[in-house]
Amino acid sequence: MSRVALAGAACLSLSLAAAGAGRAQSPPAVAVPPAAVAFVPRDDSAIPDDELGRQIRLGRTIFTDTARAAPGSVGNDLKCSNCHLDAGRRADASPLWGAYGMFPQFRAKNGHVNTFAERLRECFMYSMNGRAPAYGGPELTALESYAAFLARGAPIGIRLPGQGYPKLDKPGQAPDRERGKAVFTANCALCHGDDGAGRKAGDEVLFPPLWGPRSYNWGAGMARINNAAAFIKANMPQNQPGLLTLQQAWDVAAYIDGKPRPQDPRYAGSAAETRRRFQNDPQSLYGLKVDGQVLGGDGPPRRR
Ligand code: HEC
Ligand code: HEC
Repeated sequence: MSRVALAGAACLSLSLAAAGAGRAQSPPAVAVPPAAVAFVPRDDSAIPDDELGRQIRLGRTIFTDTARAAPGSVGNDLKCSNCHLDAGRRADASPLWGAYGMFPQFRAKNGHVNTFAERLRECFMYSMNGRAPAYGGPELTALESYAAFLARGAPIGIRLPGQGYPKLDKPGQAPDRERGKAVFTANCALCHGDDGAGRKAGDEVLFPPLWGPRSYNWGAGMARINNAAAFIKANMPQNQPGLLTLQQAWDVAAYIDGKPRPQDPRYAGSAAETRRRFQNDPQSLYGLKVDGQVLGGDGPPRRR
């Protein structure tokens, strides 16, 4: 059984337990299907039985079991497929088939044209709080082979429906962390834990951490409230995506992204200076005082 399926099975039993505890009469959770998409990537059974196929399979393994398959490059308890769901296939969860044909691409984040390989490296540095694998190295070759396999047959340079996370409308009221905390307690803590640290069974991560030292760092796309709100609105709670209102998705995103997490690896000597240079964005709470604590005020990145 794949690890994603394992996590799914575990959360099914958790949610059943919760249903049994309090709301035995309520209807079973119904997963909302993703928005209609023009593109369906081919099945894994189409992976060729040759050297390229070997790279594609390795890329899939790195994507879904990142710490084990690329141990030198990961500094937290996440894997790529925790945010790019269904092993990078799910529309509206930043699918690899939607990304591949959109590179090279200018990115304001680093101010130059990025190749696909550079984009992959960034998710290692920030989302995985790790070290970027070397250009030309085996990890990037495998990941790029896998992404190209999923994108085979898709048009190049066209933003496909389902690419990225769906763009969210602005909420009626400014996102509020207090309301977000209540949303979290009611809809998220069951799986991700009251402390947001996720759940493990031994070394196996059953539910990934949302904040704290084993989660994504301050440089990650998910540390931006708008990105987190868009991901959450479309994909969480995992057993009932689509449950949250627009306002609730923004509120809970502000709650999560107002919690401590690993330092931005671009740290420039102080949180204030790092914010000025890299985090000067209303969607980031980095460097601001939240609950009496300056987010990112805990000094240089720790060695991983
Ligand atoms: C914590 C969640 C998270 C994890 C883990 C994560 N990513 Fe991402 N990834 C994102 C977000 C959010 C974006 C969009 C960011 C933005 O727009 O700034 C993104 C964007 C991307 C893109 C570009 C998508 C597009 O359509 O332009 C690629 C490719 C990518 N990630 C690959 C990876 C790989 C490979 C890994 C594992 C090594 C990984 N990601 C791990 C959250 C994550
Ligand atoms: C039934 C269990 C469950 C519930 C409830 C749930 N999640 Fe998740 N969540 C998961 C799992 C499992 C993943 C990883 C998905 C995968 O690997 O396919 C995940 C992934 C995530 C991620 C990206 C990975 C990370 O750790 O940053 C975020 C953000 C997230 N969930 C937020 C939320 C929020 C906010 C809520 C409440 C509105 C919520 N989740 C409710 C199970 C759950």
